[in-house]
Amino acid sequence: MLSKSKQPLLSIQNLVKYFPIRKGIFSRVVANVHAVDDVSFDIPEGETLSLVGESGCGKTTTGRTLLRLIEPTSGKIFYNGTDIANASTSQMRALRKDMQIVFQDPYGSLNPRMTIQSIVEEGLIIQGGYTASERKDLVCQTLKKCGLDPSYISRYPHEFSGGQRQRVCIARALVLSPKFVVLDEPISALDVSIQAQIINLLADLRDEYNLTYLFISHDLSVVEYLSNHVAVMYLGKIVEMADKATLYGNPVHPYTQALLSAIPTVDPSKRRSRIVLQGDVPSPINPPQGCHFHPRCPHATERCRTEAPQLINIGTADNVHQVRCFLAEKDFGTSGQTIQTVEKKEPTPPKQPQGKSKKKSGKKRRK
Ligand SMILES: Nc1ncnc2c1ncn2[C@@H]1O[C@H](COP(=O)(O)OP(=O)(O)O)[C@@H](O)[C@H]1O
Ligand code: SF4
Ligand SMILES: [Mg+2]
Repeated sequence: MLSKSKQPLLSIQNLVKYFPIRKGIFSRVVANVHAVDDVSFDIPEGETLSLVGESGCGKTTTGRTLLRLIEPTSGKIFYNGTDIANASTSQMRALRKDMQIVFQDPYGSLNPRMTIQSIVEEGLIIQGGYTASERKDLVCQTLKKCGLDPSYISRYPHEFSGGQRQRVCIARALVLSPKFVVLDEPISALDVSIQAQIINLLADLRDEYNLTYLFISHDLSVVEYLSNHVAVMYLGKIVEMADKATLYGNPVHPYTQALLSAIPTVDPSKRRSRIVLQGDVPSPINPPQGCHFHPRCPHATERCRTEAPQLINIGTADNVHQVRCFLAEKDFGTSGQTIQTVEKKEPTPPKQPQGKSKKKSGKKRRK
């Protein structure tokens, strides 16, 4: 829980997604990729939570799992107070209208053989209940909202620039008037000059239509403008989460400090000395014992190699600042309130697929 001031529109609790690795003629599970490992957060209506971390830490899997595009291994997903982790396909189809996603790659995610109209209206056709002229009107209105000329509807994706394509992707997500949108690295594939335009568009749309966002990025510098809260992820786990001002102004976890130190700035008063992390991100198939970050942490001690730190709240009950690091315990003593004390049970492995083997077994604009 980030803040008790607003009811969350979306809340995930102890979300786990393991991808089984199978080998042999019996497709036996020999290991699991710990892509998302006990992640919990809330996003209040109309707000943005940014999920940040290096490539492979589980951001996309978190976003797709909470939309049920990927089945969770375990955990709860509350949308508007209802647990949708086990909702049926037909229940999820009704919810798809409210919960949308914008993918990272505006080139790969648009079918080159479809016109802009057929791309944007696809969701309306799947939902049903709209006449052809209603669909066309909605497509034109949504393109306009997203800064595109409605006269473009008969064109094909290759006729657009990267920024325009991403606007089409945003229009496709918004045409059904969703309440919650996962933005999976929506600006990573775009030129720097276009990135600010798309961020401004997303901020304007959020404010105008009271949208709630999960904004995924590998870069802390791009999420600052849009975020209300920021969660930093490392090897499938959240290591620090706080409101934007606290996370950028007072980062406590050594990983967050390293990510922030890598942000270039022209203001000498905001410049931080660069923390260069040693080594690579370990494999999520066999994460390190103790604190997952210890092989790269400049402050690691013997305890960090053997014992896993819990996520503790070093903020207040109303304004939570969660940190998963023994240094936070030391610095904040008993004021730190443990958030996840219960030892997590090994999640039930996902069901075997049907196959042969189965039979056997602020308002300033960004510049
Ligand atoms: N379908 C899949 N099968 C097996 N492993 C996967 C699958 N999808 C993602 N992974 C693995 O899960 C981990 C997290 O991936 P992902 O969520 O895409 O990370 P991010 O978005 O942070 O870059 C990675 O190690 C990735 O290789
Ligand atoms: S628990 Fe230890 S290894 Fe992990 S981040 Fe904190 S100091 Fe570093
Ligand atoms: Mg990703």
